[in-house]
Amino acid sequence: MRNRTGFFAVVLLLAFACTPSANAQQNPGNTPGHAWWQHAVIYEVYPRSFDDSNGDGIGDLNGITSKLDYLKDLGVDAIWITPCFPSPQVDFGYDVSDYVNIDPMYGTLADFDRLVAEAKKRNIRVILDFVVNHTSDQHPWFVDSKSSRTSAHRDWYIWRDGKGPGQPPNNWLSTFGLSAWKFDPTTNQYYYHYFYPEQPDLNWRNPEVEKAMFDVTRFWYKRGVAGFRLDAVDSLFEDPNLTDNPVLPGKDKFGRPNMEEKYDKKLPEVHVELQRLRKVADEYDAVLIGETWTSNVAELEQYYGNNGNELQLPMDLMLTDLPLSAAAFREHIKAVDAARGWPTYVITNHDIQRSYSRYADGVHNDDIAKMMAGFYLTLRGTSIMYYGEEIGMENNDPKRKEDVKDPIGILGWPEEKGRDGERTPMQWNGSTNAGFTTGKPWLPVPESAKTHNVAAESGNPNSVLSFYKQVIHLRKTEPALLEGAYIPLNESDPNVISYLRKSKDGAVLVVLNFSAKPQNATFDLGTRGFAGAKVKALLQNAASVPGGTLQNVKLGAYGVYIGRVTQ
Ligand code: NOJ
Ligand code: CA
Repeated sequence: MRNRTGFFAVVLLLAFACTPSANAQQNPGNTPGHAWWQHAVIYEVYPRSFDDSNGDGIGDLNGITSKLDYLKDLGVDAIWITPCFPSPQVDFGYDVSDYVNIDPMYGTLADFDRLVAEAKKRNIRVILDFVVNHTSDQHPWFVDSKSSRTSAHRDWYIWRDGKGPGQPPNNWLSTFGLSAWKFDPTTNQYYYHYFYPEQPDLNWRNPEVEKAMFDVTRFWYKRGVAGFRLDAVDSLFEDPNLTDNPVLPGKDKFGRPNMEEKYDKKLPEVHVELQRLRKVADEYDAVLIGETWTSNVAELEQYYGNNGNELQLPMDLMLTDLPLSAAAFREHIKAVDAARGWPTYVITNHDIQRSYSRYADGVHNDDIAKMMAGFYLTLRGTSIMYYGEEIGMENNDPKRKEDVKDPIGILGWPEEKGRDGERTPMQWNGSTNAGFTTGKPWLPVPESAKTHNVAAESGNPNSVLSFYKQVIHLRKTEPALLEGAYIPLNESDPNVISYLRKSKDGAVLVVLNFSAKPQNATFDLGTRGFAGAKVKALLQNAASVPGGTLQNVKLGAYGVYIGRVTQ
């Protein structure tokens, strides 16, 4: 839903150290030479939609706790829970009115502590979502801030005079439609909000804001959280002179003039602040994941900081915007893998169309889902998966404006339908409402829940779920998939992406057919130190290697082959 441009202007930066050991030195972890998060599969839970334990139609913390055995069995190492703090829910939790509590809709702090303790028993870590850029307009800080020009929290937000009667201070736009400024008649000034008007931006230039927010992270670290996913980091700072953004030709999906977000985003101050936030995280050996929307790999690279002093895991969200094309993915992965820092791959989340729907061709949908799993879970890096990807959940977009829950879908209908479609309830079984709730779910489940659900797929060795489990298992048990360098092969093949993951302990070959046509791939690994090598299948879908010879890896439509290279 957010603007993403210029992804193909990928910059190759090969000059930096990129071996796992180079990163590991900065991050002593619980695996020799690696921090835990470098091998992790991190599973994003949207709490409203995961499991409803009390029948009110909305998922909750006890629901998540009840599914930890499922997550353990799937092989996830950590869950990232999107905001579960008290909130008026205008942006479904991304409008926080109390950073150090749990919304009663989701449970209590005691429920949270139990979740962390039960997760720990299963060696699953808990990561929370830190909404750094803005609070809810119902947060006591903002309530005080707007009460008078001299209130204690006035300067905790960004208040300015209008340019003239009825005129906002400048031309900046909210990414959620309309102006980024809202007039408040109590004090006759405007406040700034990059997102909804109910989400006023914090003033991070104020040291009191910084201190209060850093203390929030300490509160949760002490409660056992392993780290944070940092929301909307690129909008933390704005130009203090409020320079107008350059206007570009054309209109956006809300019918407003296009604009270059030159003065309201990605200011250099963001990096300074992230370094400071990281220092606090280091006090607790915590991991910071960034919601890092970037236009190219060079920009992504900046989020690691100098000598790794910013985010350990800035998400590669560019990956979510690539077409299903071998050439596009190959070029992108090569650049990310060569960049300084540990790659963090993501194929979808709660703001983006599900990958199953994005890549579906109507014929090979499950095969494509398996191929994508075989891809992003075997790359060198951390994988962040979104709940339901492992069962091939599809988007269930609203069909009528009156059904839309996400405010941007109401404002932008029909061009912008909002994000409800990718946030529908987790599909646990084939019963009514997919076993998510005994009540009325807050969003409807699609027809495909009858076939694509945990219960049905658990009993089917050929299901998307079974494939995910196997590939995650391989990721943990094949040393080359853990440690190995990423070595692209057959780089001019227009349809098939192939690579080795090679470590001192051996190599794993991954071959992926990004097309609907059968393909044959052949490999000469002599130049890679594997003269006369053979291959032993570890996992495959619509693929085979007759006789184990690398001269003939046969792939059906969207086939995937993963094999151990043997001498
Ligand atoms: C990014 C979050 O992922 C999205 O869901 C939210 O609406 C905005 N940030 C504002 O917090
Ligand atoms: Ca509930």
